[in-house]
Amino acid sequence: MKSHYCGEITSSDIKKEVKICGWIHRRRDHGGVIFLDVRDIKGICQAVVNPDNKEAFKIAESIRNEYVIQVSGSVRKRLEGTINKNMHTGEIEIEVSDIAILSKANTPVFPIDEYQDVNEDVRLKNRVLDLRRPEMNERIITRSKITSLIRNYLEKSGFHEIETPILTRATPEGARDYILPSRVQPGSFYALPQSPQLFKQLLMIGGLDKYYQIARCFRDEDLRADRQPEFTQIDIEASFITQEEIMSVSEKMIKKIINKFCGDKLEKFEVMDWNNAMNEYGCDKPDLRIPLKLVDIADLVKDEEFKVFSEPAKKTHSRVVALKVPGGNSLTRGQIDDYTKFVSKLGAKGLAYIKINDAEDIENGIQSPILKFLKKETVSNILNNLDVKSDDLIFFGAGSETIVNLSMSSLIKKLGLDLNLYNSKWAPCWIINFPMFETNSDGELTPLHHPFTLPQCNSDELKNNPDTSLAYAYDVVLNGYEIGGGSLRIFDKSMQETVFETLKISKEEATNKFGFLLKALSSGCPPHGGIAFGLDRIVMLVTDTTNIRDVIAFPKTQSAACLLTEAPSKVDEKQLEELKIISTHKEE
Ligand code: AMO
Ligand code: AMP
Repeated sequence: MKSHYCGEITSSDIKKEVKICGWIHRRRDHGGVIFLDVRDIKGICQAVVNPDNKEAFKIAESIRNEYVIQVSGSVRKRLEGTINKNMHTGEIEIEVSDIAILSKANTPVFPIDEYQDVNEDVRLKNRVLDLRRPEMNERIITRSKITSLIRNYLEKSGFHEIETPILTRATPEGARDYILPSRVQPGSFYALPQSPQLFKQLLMIGGLDKYYQIARCFRDEDLRADRQPEFTQIDIEASFITQEEIMSVSEKMIKKIINKFCGDKLEKFEVMDWNNAMNEYGCDKPDLRIPLKLVDIADLVKDEEFKVFSEPAKKTHSRVVALKVPGGNSLTRGQIDDYTKFVSKLGAKGLAYIKINDAEDIENGIQSPILKFLKKETVSNILNNLDVKSDDLIFFGAGSETIVNLSMSSLIKKLGLDLNLYNSKWAPCWIINFPMFETNSDGELTPLHHPFTLPQCNSDELKNNPDTSLAYAYDVVLNGYEIGGGSLRIFDKSMQETVFETLKISKEEATNKFGFLLKALSSGCPPHGGIAFGLDRIVMLVTDTTNIRDVIAFPKTQSAACLLTEAPSKVDEKQLEELKIISTHKEE
């Protein structure tokens, strides 16, 4: 239908007859001459319709924004003064001989020909229009190019792309499953995969050596700005491989992506123990571009009368931390109040602070509502411990470990953003030596990764010290986002059984849910391990957005709905009958 893409016609095409197809980006009437900006995926080209071409002119007069047209004509140089150096096609225009309207369009709900901040719900309801906006178009294309680079890299590194089932059994990754009823086996359900975890392990036992898949995963969990109920993993697994080898393959891939799409060279990834990350940053995905760290001061305040500090300082699973903000003295009372509100939304009971006007003058040079509760010597010890300078500010967090870690790690990220404290563009790091398990709010042990992760100890040690056992598990963090995570896997049946036992999964339940894995583990299993990257998050970072929905063509909202198709939706009674399903849901 066309000889050229609109955005690719240049002065080298002058005098050529061309045919282009695209959308009307803008139509301008200039004293009898009609200018049409025609847009396609490669860009915009100007077409000019003269009134002496009566037929074409009549059509051009009826054309509106976003009509789809086909234009034929010859390329000519634009008149001096009308050349647009900012446009790839800015030196030329097409003198139109024929126009055909291929498809008409209603007036768009929001303009495509100029940038306008549009409410996200409106964008999602009108996603086809939204996708036409240059920034969205670019992000989706970049996503495709990143996927292609990844495929190339992994293929060259000897990995084979293998598909795994979508209709399957539950694979525990810590979220709820999406389940689907079976019609032919009424009362039975499939689960959509939370990840291809078990299948990739089975592929290794099946002798396939090196696997990858650009895999769709489904998790029914609370959504956040960087989470979707269905998302895409770059899923990788290999046999006879060490943790270091997996880390090296992964690092090279991320470096290639950042280099190709951002033009930046990533330095060596920092490697940090999980324990250190939690102590110093309060979370396992620190943004190392921000030079702020937590310092434990429990020892310094445990004997104080100020109970806000001394009580958690003496309790287990509690913390008292100080966070020095260099130059933070300039924060106003209003700003400090806002930060206090911010942490209190995350469960903190308050946000004590000390402002340092003059670090040399502990009598008169410091300011804080908590000075009256603390001994001078203690204050002096805190200041020395943190090596404070004049003009610094110290925030304090005290309370349960969970709340202090959550609130203070979030405060670090917020301060980094608000005060623009970033000291580099990229800060990649590995978090390693994760604990095998954590204790959830009901006091039950749950796996920090998944129950197939290889412990760093033997079965007896694991049974005796499940709380302190470490795992061969690792996460990749980039600028504060967890972009990937993986582990070496258990390749011995009895170790797998020990882990199930530790998690209070009965033998019967283990056989019922994971019997196929246990059987495979006793059929000759190679040591193996792998990793999965969140493709959506990588694309988000590369395209410089903080909204995961901006890098997914048809994403879901916070309530897991697709505003475009209005999924999820009711189904016919007949369908439910066929599936032998009765809903107990009552309409409000
Ligand atoms: P994990 O659960 O850590 O590991 O997932 C791997 C990566 O997938 C991304 N991710 C998500 N992205 C968007 N929305 C979500 N809801 C979401 N959940 C996870 C993250 C994360 O780092 N089977 C293991 C991997 C392995 O052990 O090999 C797994 O799925 O970037
Ligand atoms: P209060 O005794 O609750 O008035 O608190 C005195 C000071 O300590 C105030 O500045 C509070 O913001 C701060 N504060 C209270 N609870 C905490 C906490 N759990 N962590 C840090 N600071 C706190």
